[in-house]
Amino acid sequence: MSDSELRERASTGNAQLDEMMEGGPLRGSVSLVIGAPGTGKTCLGLEFIAHGVELGEPGLIVTFEHFPKKLLRDAASLGYDLQEMEKNGMLRILFTSPEIFFEQAQTPGGLLDTMVQELGAKRILIDSISHLERLAKDPVKLREVAFTFINALLRHGLTAIVTQEDPDITGDMTAAQYGISYLVDAVIILRYVELDSSISKAILVLKQRASSHDKSIREFRITESGLAVGEPFADREGVLSGLARKKEIDAFMEVFGKKGKSTGKGEVD
Ligand SMILES: Nc1ncnc2c1ncn2[C@@H]1O[C@H](COP(=O)(O)OP(=O)(O)OP(=O)(O)O)[C@@H](O)[C@H]1O
Ligand SMILES: [Mg+2]
Repeated sequence: MSDSELRERASTGNAQLDEMMEGGPLRGSVSLVIGAPGTGKTCLGLEFIAHGVELGEPGLIVTFEHFPKKLLRDAASLGYDLQEMEKNGMLRILFTSPEIFFEQAQTPGGLLDTMVQELGAKRILIDSISHLERLAKDPVKLREVAFTFINALLRHGLTAIVTQEDPDITGDMTAAQYGISYLVDAVIILRYVELDSSISKAILVLKQRASSHDKSIREFRITESGLAVGEPFADREGVLSGLARKKEIDAFMEVFGKKGKSTGKGEVD
């Protein structure tokens, strides 16, 4: 990949997320999407791959967890016909074990090499890297495995989205969950948030190498046309802890009256 290509952006397929990432992930970079079950990691990844196909960029999906039918059905519910994309030579889906893929990704002329070459793949979705934990128990060894794996993706010049499960549904983020964050170029966090007694979802770009990014935490939903990213959580705090509270002053005003000058008689004007 040339220097100028490496400065280009690969649109995620979602205009708001692209905006949060200053135009989208850099080409040839690896972005990690971390979230609890059901937050929308696979949906985000599918959108990224399907949008690439729309732009004429062939994609690869490597999945260790979904049965083919489930993945095809999830994609269809978002309006994507993966089988049609495969038929048109724009997509390959690989259902395999982490053991086989890890070995093949390092082998010259192996499965990853072959698929990338045959398809001319530009994008890849790995869903999810959490399954690599089966390959090593020791944390140091596991980090080596992740390092080797991410390097294999980078070597092929692919723009990658790699999902990772967050074991906590809500609650404070712990450093352990972000153990491989330092290996990747960008980190996107999807979280459940309790908001006024119901559950919403929040999205945040935690880091993006070699570029600026939006620091706000935004509400998002999964709809039948994919991710819908909304406005930042205004006047809220504690969003990343999973429990979003209104700022005290706003909560106070909501209960005790509208904002205004004190009349000096203990009332608010
Ligand atoms: N077409 C759709 N319309 C509305 N909501 C949808 C649609 N497709 C999926 N969802 C919602 O998106 C969520 C699942 O998203 P997704 O499968 O991407 O999550 P995930 O983070 O990959 O979960 P897991 O960790 O279990 O793989 C569910 O809450 C589901 O209800
Ligand atoms: Mg998933």
